[in-house]
Amino acid sequence: MITKQKGTYDVYGDLAKKRMYVNDVLNALCEKFNYGYIETPVFEASELFHRGVGDTSDIVTKETYDFKDRGERSITLRPEGTAGVVRWFVENKLYGNMTDPVKVYYNQKMYRYERPQSGRNREFTQWGFEMFGSDSVEADAEVISLAYNAYKLLGLDDVKIKLNSLGDTESRNNYREVLINYFRPRINELCEDCQNRLEKNPLRILDCKVDADSEIIKNAPKTIDYLNEESKKRFERLQELLDLMDIPFEVDTNLVRGLDYYNHTVFEVVLGDSYALGGGGRYNGLVETLGGPSVPGVGFAMGYDRTILAMEENEVHIPINDSIDLYILAVSDTEKETAAYLTQDLRLNGFIVETDLMNKGLKGQFKSVDRFNAKYLIVLNDEDLAKNEVVLKDNKTKEEERLSLTDIVDYLDTHM
Ligand code: HAM
Repeated sequence: MITKQKGTYDVYGDLAKKRMYVNDVLNALCEKFNYGYIETPVFEASELFHRGVGDTSDIVTKETYDFKDRGERSITLRPEGTAGVVRWFVENKLYGNMTDPVKVYYNQKMYRYERPQSGRNREFTQWGFEMFGSDSVEADAEVISLAYNAYKLLGLDDVKIKLNSLGDTESRNNYREVLINYFRPRINELCEDCQNRLEKNPLRILDCKVDADSEIIKNAPKTIDYLNEESKKRFERLQELLDLMDIPFEVDTNLVRGLDYYNHTVFEVVLGDSYALGGGGRYNGLVETLGGPSVPGVGFAMGYDRTILAMEENEVHIPINDSIDLYILAVSDTEKETAAYLTQDLRLNGFIVETDLMNKGLKGQFKSVDRFNAKYLIVLNDEDLAKNEVVLKDNKTKEEERLSLTDIVDYLDTHM
């Protein structure tokens, strides 16, 4: 037997219904915020992620699915959505004549070669969105608002935003030096990964999972103490806006995020002490890094797996339809003919209708009525059909109504 790959899973049954519900809620919300839907390819040139996500990030160094295609090109399955969207933005020269921000959202499969565990898979879906062209702090607030309200609408009322600022390039470089000097004399007390990060990406030491409780990390210099005046003002202004918008947040000075492209605002959405349900931030240098002009960007992505797990753990009611509107029972050829066109007609009028496709007898079809949890049923019979009539039965109250074939839609419309 061929089985599925480690870290992948099939989506069907109740999980499929839950995901479709989450999809519908999120997509409708994005439309309200006036973001347009975008799909980008699953595979891209490896260089896009090396340059975009960053050569020193864990994602690129340890987690990408890289391969050579038959034309000997280096290809990578996308580990995240932002780099592909930036590639699209640059390739289509959407930066020309920007009078309003370009805003897009996506809902795509991502691939990371991680150690699978609950809420962490090798193939997973991210819902995310990106905004290009605005460097305003109000744009950061809008992105955080869209992220926060998505979780609220899904019934996760207790989510909180963890917020930090990495400052502009000057502040970030400054802080980087301070960190290297702080960690260097103590680096042997930290894990091997941290030792490798010292010169390449010292900010990542701050959110090391292995050494999270180490005093060395806890007492490390804080980003916000090294922001220049402008970056500091910007961060304070963002907090004022979030307060005004009633978005609960907590400044977490150790939050640096795992991708190299951020500056200024970084944030994650968390529930209690759990891992991040989503994360994002501002990336003003990324468009330029990927070959475009200097255009600011900001965005966010949510993992579906973790969000749905959190909904289940918090016993959020997820509406799952487990019933049908009508089951049409038919045995003879004429009954089956009527069932065929009536089923189509009623389905096109908006009802969920089933009929027998297994040549079962009436007894077997009544069992299907129960299995499908049908609200109404019609037992077709040749005698009634000769008069163009049917008897519609309410499966709960057992009340019956004799109707002409042409009146079924109206009757169901007024009674459902
Ligand atoms: P990220 O923090 O790497 O950011 O991923 C965002 C979210 O994707 C995570 O918070 C988590 O919910 C989910 N996720 C990540 N890895 C896995 C996994 N292996 N299994 C299941 N879920 C996972 C980004 O990807 C950025 N592109 C976000 C962004 C958009 N920043 C700006 N714009």
